[in-house]
Amino acid sequence: MEKIYFDYAATTPADPQVLEAMKPFFHENFGNPSSIHSFGREARGAMDDARQKVSSFLGARPEEIIFTSSGTEADNFALFGVLWANAAKGNHVVTTAIEHHAVLEPARFLEKLGYKVTSVRPDKDGIVHPEDIAAAMTDQTVLVSVMHANNEIGTIQPIKEIASLVKEKGAYMHTDAVQTVGHIPVNVDDLHVDLLSLSAHKFYGPKGVGCLYVRKGTRIAPFLRGGGQERHRRASTENIPGIVGCGKALEICSRSMASEAAEQTRLRDKLMAGVQKKIDRVYLNGHAVQRLPNNVNFSVEYIEGESMLLNLDMLGVAASTGSACTSGDLEPSHVLLSIGRPHELCHGSIRLTLGRYTREEEIDRFLDVFPKIVAKLRAMSPLYDKKP
Ligand SMILES: Cc1ncc(COP(=O)(O)O)c(C=O)c1O
Repeated sequence: MEKIYFDYAATTPADPQVLEAMKPFFHENFGNPSSIHSFGREARGAMDDARQKVSSFLGARPEEIIFTSSGTEADNFALFGVLWANAAKGNHVVTTAIEHHAVLEPARFLEKLGYKVTSVRPDKDGIVHPEDIAAAMTDQTVLVSVMHANNEIGTIQPIKEIASLVKEKGAYMHTDAVQTVGHIPVNVDDLHVDLLSLSAHKFYGPKGVGCLYVRKGTRIAPFLRGGGQERHRRASTENIPGIVGCGKALEICSRSMASEAAEQTRLRDKLMAGVQKKIDRVYLNGHAVQRLPNNVNFSVEYIEGESMLLNLDMLGVAASTGSACTSGDLEPSHVLLSIGRPHELCHGSIRLTLGRYTREEEIDRFLDVFPKIVAKLRAMSPLYDKKP
């Protein structure tokens, strides 16, 4: 039985071309880019080339890209770095209730340290409204952080409109673009953002590499302190194989992204329509149109998400109940609660995320096996019987 992977939002396999590009930098070209000898210069050259690729993908300048160890580090860096460096301006951050934990937790910690944090709720489709962000801002607001697209329900936010209001009010705008970079166009000038986080393992690059884009002129304090790497903004010897892989992965995405997104949208819509046709009482989570090309998330009434996942896994189908970081957690998803889903529906949710290697036969196989799993689980549910 061939396994099916529908969890590309959790992570993607590295593209074979990415692996090839990375390989020499583990052994033959192992130099430290801070060394002035030829080994070091070779490593620095490779890093400069990767930085160029990342910056041109984002429409940024190379010196505005800071490589990090992950999307999580980039998010932490944005929040702490901007608040620390701008203490004279204010102590208030505005963010949303549906951010990834990589933003929620630093925001909570800032609150413990005495900073003020306001969390804005989205509407029932998961859209954050620009006027709600503007209303939450005060003259003490230093930073607004709103994710570009949600990792659970796939809703894409009107970042450009939000950022325009934020800039008018004189604060910095950060977006966590971990789920969008490599999947839909992301241009820092079009989005009007000052800071943007990305993570290579979400776009067929290696794990453990991310970037923080920081617009020229943005005041930000280092998060990791030590050596003078990354123009004194992020200490630690650079992960050269990872950085090379990140650049190569984005170079590939810049060529293939448009056609992949079109194909994934087609397969996503087929999957969504098939589920809604074959199963009663299923509810789509997230916006029907303003969503990532590869994301399907729905709640099935009277069934536990975990039971669906286990049954699918037994048939070789890998799916998720939400973000990889919270599955295995019995708490209902904070994202689904924020869009107003009742607890029962939060527990009955399933996320399927498609990717570069998804084939139509896999969608067909899912549409064949999933309704049977739902019927089997509902037959065991005392609640389902009682409903008309
Ligand atoms: C929206 C979002 N932000 C941040 C992260 C964290 O990225 P990383 O796994 O590189 O730390 C993820 C990963 O799931 C994510 O989906």
